Amino acid sequence: MGIEIRKHEGGCGAEVLGVDLNSLSDADMRIVRRAYADNGVIFFRDQSLSEDEHIAFARRWGEIDINKFFPHIAGYPEIAAVRKEKAQKTNIGGGWHTDHSYDRIPAMGSILVARVLPDQGGDTLFANMYSAYETLDDATKKEIAGLKAVHSNAHVFGSNAYYDNPERREFSNDAAVGEAVHPVAITHPLSGRKALYVNPGFTLRFEGKSPEESRPLLHQLFAHAMKPEFSSRFQWRPGSIAFWDNRATWHFALNDYHGEERLMHRITVAGVALH
Ligand code: OGA
Ligand code: MN
Repeated sequence: MGIEIRKHEGGCGAEVLGVDLNSLSDADMRIVRRAYADNGVIFFRDQSLSEDEHIAFARRWGEIDINKFFPHIAGYPEIAAVRKEKAQKTNIGGGWHTDHSYDRIPAMGSILVARVLPDQGGDTLFANMYSAYETLDDATKKEIAGLKAVHSNAHVFGSNAYYDNPERREFSNDAAVGEAVHPVAITHPLSGRKALYVNPGFTLRFEGKSPEESRPLLHQLFAHAMKPEFSSRFQWRPGSIAFWDNRATWHFALNDYHGEERLMHRITVAGVALH
């Protein structure tokens, strides 16, 4: 049985079949790299990765970006715990966003391994930012050519911000908040294709414009990118792994399993400056 790449149902992502991530040959790795660059997110089923094996797989893609906000799991600073406990109501990533766009050198992507799943719910949505860019009308493509946007995380991880509530105060880290400027349409560093690079979670405004002045076009871009035809829904099972590229996709963790625990292990791989 050989490796197979199969488009995921919906508008985003692909499944990689016929591989064991603990013994991926260099030839298969080349195919997986291509699938990652082309599809923005790749999914694996029926894997069994220990913490050390998760780290070893991540290192085949680049340097590990250690998270400044999420608690890490005991003994492994490289692995962030993406957890919702039974009694918690707030989840992590419960709205459309892409991780790390507030960094000057945004992380490439994350390898998320399912560890504890609710009986039902807790799916993750992914949206395809290549498709979002390609389907913009010509006037909008022209309008955003050369335009840059300001991304920040102060409203998420700062004091008096989203996670500064009694459930999630451990995330709040004023010392690490920051902002960055990136092109609205980037040339993807792996595929060379254009992708839309603004997101509802972290993009505040266009460079040189106030949030109010930016809102009409920014919201037009968000509404366009949120169209259902660009997105897919990933249903987790024990052994499932999703590996997304922050420069080609958005994601959204559905918060529809109150009263149950969900724990994912996340390793984030460092990226490059965007142009
Ligand atoms: C994240 C995130 C999605 C999920 O780890 O950045 O948004 O489904 N997680 O847990
Ligand atoms: Mn996220």
